[in-house]
Amino acid sequence: MQKTKNISGFFSSRKSISVKNLKYPGPNKNQTMAIFKNALRVPDHGKLEPWRIVVISEDCKKKYISILEERGKKLHIDPLKIEKSKTNILKTPLTLAVICSPIKNSKIPEVEQVLSCGALCMNILNNFLANGWGANWLTGWMANDKELGRLAFNNSKDEFVSGFIYVGSHEDKSPDRQRPKLEDKISYFK
Ligand SMILES: Cc1cc2nc3c(=O)[nH]c(=O)nc-3n(C[C@H](O)[C@H](O)[C@H](O)COP(=O)(O)O)c2cc1C
Repeated sequence: MQKTKNISGFFSSRKSISVKNLKYPGPNKNQTMAIFKNALRVPDHGKLEPWRIVVISEDCKKKYISILEERGKKLHIDPLKIEKSKTNILKTPLTLAVICSPIKNSKIPEVEQVLSCGALCMNILNNFLANGWGANWLTGWMANDKELGRLAFNNSKDEFVSGFIYVGSHEDKSPDRQRPKLEDKISYFK
């Protein structure tokens, strides 16, 4: 695990690590909390803090898995998909659910609150990566099923899971994927 010293160097090569390449050990509680403290420094119009993080720690993994299994069966999710969801949780040292909690009837448009939550997810991801951990942001059925969010994380009717962030050690040497071309994505206003 190598911590980033050079910010520009970090951003020029940062990439997520596939969950299949994450392994033990993971960050301990102090390391995780230090990363959260930095990651919570996120743009947030109106200072509404429309998000929260639920840590699925080692001793509660089985409880979360039993909830997801029961819900997955009820929804007739492909058993292979359920098994993959379980494996992802079990083999990864640390899994976080980032919950978006938009404040209704605020003068800040809901879309801006959702964007702030996306920024939080990215900040969490990058902070773990910059500290030398492997991490990946995934959604899938576990995030998209609102009832599972309610059962597992006590989500209110307005809340939803913006993503699960998986964190662990890694020795990833896989090549980077193709990145967007500047000329396709950047234009100058004329
Ligand atoms: C909101 C969101 C949800 C995602 N959900 C999934 C997913 O469910 N399954 C998947 O294979 N990739 C998913 N991805 C993509 C992974 O995060 C992927 O590893 C990522 O594109 C790697 O980009 P990076 O290397 O620039 O960090 C998602 C990405 C985002 C932004």
